[in-house]
Amino acid sequence: MAIVLGIESTAHTLGAGIVGRKGKSVKILSNEIDKFPSTAEGFIPRKLADHHALCYPQVLEKSLQTAGVSLADIDAVAYSQGLGIGHCLRVGYVAAKTLALSLGVPLIAVNHAIAHAEVSKFYTKAVDPLIVYVSGGNTQIIAREKNRYKVLGETLDNGIGNFLDVLGRKMNLSPPDAVGIMKNAAKWRGKGGEYIELPYSIKGMNLFFSGLQTKCEQLIAGKKHSVEQLCYSIEETAYSMLVEASERALCHARKKELIVVGGVAQNKRLQQMLGLMAREQKARFGVAPDECNRDNGAMIAYVGLLSLENNCISRDDLPKQDLRIDEQEVKW
Ligand code: FE2
Repeated sequence: MAIVLGIESTAHTLGAGIVGRKGKSVKILSNEIDKFPSTAEGFIPRKLADHHALCYPQVLEKSLQTAGVSLADIDAVAYSQGLGIGHCLRVGYVAAKTLALSLGVPLIAVNHAIAHAEVSKFYTKAVDPLIVYVSGGNTQIIAREKNRYKVLGETLDNGIGNFLDVLGRKMNLSPPDAVGIMKNAAKWRGKGGEYIELPYSIKGMNLFFSGLQTKCEQLIAGKKHSVEQLCYSIEETAYSMLVEASERALCHARKKELIVVGGVAQNKRLQQMLGLMAREQKARFGVAPDECNRDNGAMIAYVGLLSLENNCISRDDLPKQDLRIDEQEVKW
């Protein structure tokens, strides 16, 4: 059995996951995380890096225990090379490289975005889907073309998750982030409340969130609308923009499958809207379980395993803050 350990540390989460293959079957044996909590001050890179360094031994130990393996059983160590926050990436890199060297096994640098896409394909059994990748720093609509993932559309300013987090903090929500927005939006949706018309910025298959953010900040400061109504209108507007761009890409790329991946993919309203659009376009819709859509080590281990088996371990293993999904070849 080939066993790979994956270390994730691109942003607020330190993760360690273990994946193993026996014959044709791949199993996620463990997927442990420790997330730095959202605070009113946002995420300070140095504090995130300190958090990751401090909790790494416990997260690794827990991951080994859950998987029922020891360090001696590990055949390769994979780590998240980027994109991400430089301070955080370096903690994962040094931890993974030190461990790989001490065990005498290969170190495999994994593209974080490819890991989100591949682990979701693994769970949903999608073969050649259109991929809607939504997280704090990323908003991209992606399709595979031969040996490379190609970006068909993307945000031209903020990532959708960061946009939602900023507004969550401005409204002092609990928690002060996209989850706070989701909770308040669900309450207003449940009441059948009215929608506030907001700027809707989309050009072709690309999106913009800064104009929408400025308008929302003005409305928050004006205090004319309830927090629930604002959160509902923010979600409906941002997700509608994303669904419209995705529908255009789905038709353009002629894909018959659609998956949504990344941290914001956990949002049930977004899943519902994309699922409805996919059904209208006669495409199959899929989404992985939440534990594989938030940042996690198992997805890094999974792509580490694919890289090990397909002999594609890059010598250039240094962290890359701005690594894009379309920069690397995919050889499986
Ligand atoms: Fe991510």
